[in-house]
Amino acid sequence: MQNFTFYNPTRILFGTHRLPELAREIPADARVLITYGGGSIARTGTLAEVNAALKGFAVVEFGGIEPNPTYETLIQAVELARRENVGFLLSVGGGSVIDGTKFIAAAIPFAGDPWDILSKRARIKSAVPFGTVLTLPATGSEMNNGAVITRRASNDKLAFSHPLLFPRFSILDPTKAYTLPARQIANGVVDAFVHVIEQYLTYPADAKVQDRFAEGLLLTLIEDGPKALQEPQNYALRANLMWVATMALNGLIGAGVPNDWATHMLGHELTALHGLDHAQSLAVILPAMLEVRRGEKREKLLQYAARVWQLREGDDEARIDQAIERTRQFFESLQVSTHLAAYNIGKEAIPALIDQLERHGMTALGEHRNFTIEGSRRVYELAS
Ligand code: NZQ
Ligand code: ZN
Repeated sequence: MQNFTFYNPTRILFGTHRLPELAREIPADARVLITYGGGSIARTGTLAEVNAALKGFAVVEFGGIEPNPTYETLIQAVELARRENVGFLLSVGGGSVIDGTKFIAAAIPFAGDPWDILSKRARIKSAVPFGTVLTLPATGSEMNNGAVITRRASNDKLAFSHPLLFPRFSILDPTKAYTLPARQIANGVVDAFVHVIEQYLTYPADAKVQDRFAEGLLLTLIEDGPKALQEPQNYALRANLMWVATMALNGLIGAGVPNDWATHMLGHELTALHGLDHAQSLAVILPAMLEVRRGEKREKLLQYAARVWQLREGDDEARIDQAIERTRQFFESLQVSTHLAAYNIGKEAIPALIDQLERHGMTALGEHRNFTIEGSRRVYELAS
């Protein structure tokens, strides 16, 4: 096992009827900015519940944070928060709203051009504290310190993270996910699945706990993901899926083991240029990525085949073939297509995707930092 430091200070309030406890988690004298997305929380009644829970607080609202949140929108929230002298942020929504709120939190006290936080990895010295009310289990953003922000003007979708950007608390009420459309339920399952894979399917590191945690999360997603599409109001299913998605990217399973993240980086360019949902981009890239890198990932692919898909018979290559095929079929069974053609993207789109990766310095990816542009090109071609 590799050396690691594990730190995660986010307080989790999990279960039904936890929203009224909001007020206890926020400093009584803070002016609160509620951040949210395109309006689902107004339609579902969650915004009204939040406002009721914050009775007595000075509250300002900022709505309109879009999926794949943009700098252009978020900077308006930064200006509002500065004007209103906001001291606490409360994000209510999915990964996009939470990620956007992390950027707002870092940008409010930032002295220079806030885009430098992403483009130049400029150092963050402080951040406004924030909490979250999760409505879409998928990204794990509710219990991690990372965020991915898009600048529309330049087609950049860039990630950043900082220890000051863990949510102070997150309210995880699985019933808040009942109103999700099927596409977002499926997206959440695929995103969480790929988060686990990118921290698990690398090379053996004698990390039994991390491996078995990871396999448990994958098995739960395979077992309950398809059922949740059939029974969207089944609490047990939604509770398991919500906790899986959080555990998939809160630092626990990735500590002490190699991490990959190449699938995410290639996927981000698909979203930046072609607008695919984050999970759609991953469903397209992952099966091709595993195929292209099956040599270096061989031992873990065989472990994955045996322990996750129960493939224990036949020769090694055939088991790896089947494990990759099962992965693809799992995504397809959730109605998340795994080929670029299904999103009307042809091979002629590949050179621009490659240019983006180069421009963003994504030229030495993967657990060995040896996955080059040539490898990325092969993956995009195979994913066509
Ligand atoms: O905007 P509203 O109206 O709220 O609607 C949203 C949005 O249209 C809707 N929705 C959310 N909760 C709902 C609901 N609709 C009905 N009922 C509810 N309860 O769902 C749509 C998608 O929301 P979004 O937040 O974009 O989805 P997701 O949670 O998948 O987040 C995706 C973003 O997270 C980033 C992605 O790159 C992408 O920008 N990621 C963040 C990560 C992190 N911080 O660690 C890691 C991930 O790998 C990922 O990159
Ligand atoms: Zn993801």
